[in-house]
Amino acid sequence: MKIIVIHGPNLNMLGTREPHIYGSETLEDINEKIRKYAKSLSVEADFFQSNCEGEIISKIQGCQDKYDAAIINAGAYTHYSYAIRDAIAAVSIPFVEVHMSNVYAREDFRHKSVISPVCKGMVCGFGSNSYLAAISALTYK
Ligand code: DQA
Repeated sequence: MKIIVIHGPNLNMLGTREPHIYGSETLEDINEKIRKYAKSLSVEADFFQSNCEGEIISKIQGCQDKYDAAIINAGAYTHYSYAIRDAIAAVSIPFVEVHMSNVYAREDFRHKSVISPVCKGMVCGFGSNSYLAAISALTYK
């Protein structure tokens, strides 16, 4: 099984960005943790991060024949990007929505996800372990 993990805007700042919310691991640390966990389940993981909506959309479009599934933390785009939602809907592989923080315990604008309806499922609130939970849910037989 081959998956891609797509990180959206500001996730490149992990480690120094609001550590009381997102912890002290860098994006590199988190990707390494995901890579190791995925490997233990015989899953190969690729990684992509962008702060640009269009680049994320192009990456999603390119997933179709390349990956069996995708994990996406769309950052704040989660809450308002109909273009990212439409891109996910346009490809037939399963997408799992992930958030490190519990978005429902935060500001009201984070309670709405426009991508949830086109994702297979959603994991939030477990820090970087949210990504591992998504891989576990995708692969558990
Ligand atoms: C986030 C939650 C979003 O509301 C926020 O804009 C992010 C990170 C999370 O992983 O908890 O950038 O997706």
